[in-house]
Amino acid sequence: MVESSRASAHDGLAIEVVADAAEMGRRAADVVVETVIAKPACVLAVPTGTTPLPFFTELIARRRRGEVDFSAAHLFCLDEYLGLSPDRPNSLTHWLMDAFIEPAGITPERRHLIPATSPDPEAAAAAYEADLAALGGLDLAVVGLGPNGHVAYNEPGSGPETRTRVIELTAESITQAGAYWPGEDPVPGWAMTMGIGTLLEAKRIVLIVSGDSKAEMLRRTLLDPMDDDVPASWLRLAGGRLSVIADRDAAGALGTATD
Ligand code: PGA
Repeated sequence: MVESSRASAHDGLAIEVVADAAEMGRRAADVVVETVIAKPACVLAVPTGTTPLPFFTELIARRRRGEVDFSAAHLFCLDEYLGLSPDRPNSLTHWLMDAFIEPAGITPERRHLIPATSPDPEAAAAAYEADLAALGGLDLAVVGLGPNGHVAYNEPGSGPETRTRVIELTAESITQAGAYWPGEDPVPGWAMTMGIGTLLEAKRIVLIVSGDSKAEMLRRTLLDPMDDDVPASWLRLAGGRLSVIADRDAAGALGTATD
């Protein structure tokens, strides 16, 4: 386990390369468990998608073994399709409820859901930010990397100052979402997402990335100049508060940056 990982600093960032997605999940779970043990009433955010599945499996197993207790923890969702309520099977919140929120035992009053069905999305997004700020902001945000460089649903064009807001999805993200989209309804063209500026205020950010399809985007995220074209690159502004956990395949284009 330990010999399979190499950690190094590049631009002051901690990049940990591990053998595979399962090990990525275990290492990210270690950070969550550390956070919850240090502060049971911590404020967490976790991503949706394929990447976090081994991470959720690990956390749920640890909870079943009594190694972590999420009953005092708060969970803020990162993003949701505009107009979709959590009872809709295609909603990201619905997915996250099944994959993590319910099996982890996050209590209903500590689940903070993106207000994607509000008749006044702008005011609702501001209220979501205020709710988060009132709890002292995120203690830990675990995020994934979109194939087009998005983080949460901060699509290309998103800068480091962005807050929770409505955003138009790119054609690439709509195609990506289509892979998880059962039924006949089209994938919505709009979403509400926590902003990059919101994420950057987290006390700790963990970017998890697996698979060779993400290798070039991870290289651009970590090694190219930070740019709105690759919104995830702005996470580097968090400096030592950002950790990257990538499997060997995803780290394949980083070259000597991880040596
Ligand atoms: P994925 O999605 O884990 O399914 O690749 C990541 C993302 O779009 O944030």
